[in-house]
Amino acid sequence: MDNNLILAIETSCDETAAAVYDPQNGMLSNVLFSQIELHKEYGGVVPELASRSHVQKMPIIVQQALENAGKTVDDIAVIGVTNKPGLAGSLIVGVSFAKSLAWAKNKKLIGVDHLEGHAFSACIEHTIPFPFLCITASGGHTSLYKITDFGEYAVLGQTLDDAAGEAFDKIAKLLHLPYPGGPVIEKLAREVNFDDYFGYPRSSIKSLDFSFSGLKTAVLYDLVRRGAYDLKTKTLLDDSHELKQKVASSLLVCIKDIFIHKVEQALELQPEIKAVAFVGGVACNKFIRNAFQEFCIKKGVQFFTPSPQYCTDNAGMIAFVANYKAQQGKFSDLYLDILR
Ligand code: KG4
Ligand code: ZN
Repeated sequence: MDNNLILAIETSCDETAAAVYDPQNGMLSNVLFSQIELHKEYGGVVPELASRSHVQKMPIIVQQALENAGKTVDDIAVIGVTNKPGLAGSLIVGVSFAKSLAWAKNKKLIGVDHLEGHAFSACIEHTIPFPFLCITASGGHTSLYKITDFGEYAVLGQTLDDAAGEAFDKIAKLLHLPYPGGPVIEKLAREVNFDDYFGYPRSSIKSLDFSFSGLKTAVLYDLVRRGAYDLKTKTLLDDSHELKQKVASSLLVCIKDIFIHKVEQALELQPEIKAVAFVGGVACNKFIRNAFQEFCIKKGVQFFTPSPQYCTDNAGMIAFVANYKAQQGKFSDLYLDILR
């Protein structure tokens, strides 16, 4: 029997996920049920539908993760679970399941911060030198961290309003494009070679914080000015593919510039930084990844980004954090609660 295997559970938003991690051999399984189809018609996540679906899928996904790893629950020593931040009705499903299993099967329990999971997600497949900068960009969060050791990190900046992924999703909705917006915006932008047609405003924030709600408004008013959107009736008047390509491409280039500018500012303030990691769902974007890669070569720092399965929400990253927390003796008790 392996007595140090980790089973991790993640249900903070619209993915039901479970993973099994072996401290000696790495990730043994990383399973996910995505609720995208369930929320698609609403253009965003509907919390009530999300929690209901987690209840249905949780036992199946955990069983699948154990099977894929070739293990049973008896082989598991520690259960790691995301307990913050996220949708309350979604988090509670994973946390209740993890606590019940820990109690019934006498396992150790560790509550994991979802954002800490993202922050260390590039470490699953790479050995990254400390200290490194990590930019996390997802549908719910955009933050910049300085990471000095496993579990040791400081927030240098974060979004004051919308997340970067949210900007992609909301502008996609405005253009009658499917949810989630990021992948389709990247596809449209690629069709026109990532040209910047409309020169949307770059952030005017001087600190290391981000703001994306102004960008969303700027895109909207630019469409109005071009006669492509009617504010009174809230209708898109120009539904052409060409307009969508141009908006998508200009938006992507703008967000890329904002990211790179922030990281450049942070590197100037923190010259001891050895590497940059780009993580979260938006880090699936090949255009931004490539731009970061080129930028980091110029700056003489290493660049790391996880493979797509560890960019979007997943339990693998929760297992990774639970593993180093277990080694540090940082366990939770059965009073573990959710925190939004
Ligand atoms: O990390 P994630 O799966 O969930 C959250 O924690 O929010 O990130 C989802 C976000 C969505 O906003 C989606 O539009 C964005 O990641 N995304 C992308 C791409 N793929 C997913 N954004 C830009 N380009 C992509 N290729
Ligand atoms: Zn996330």
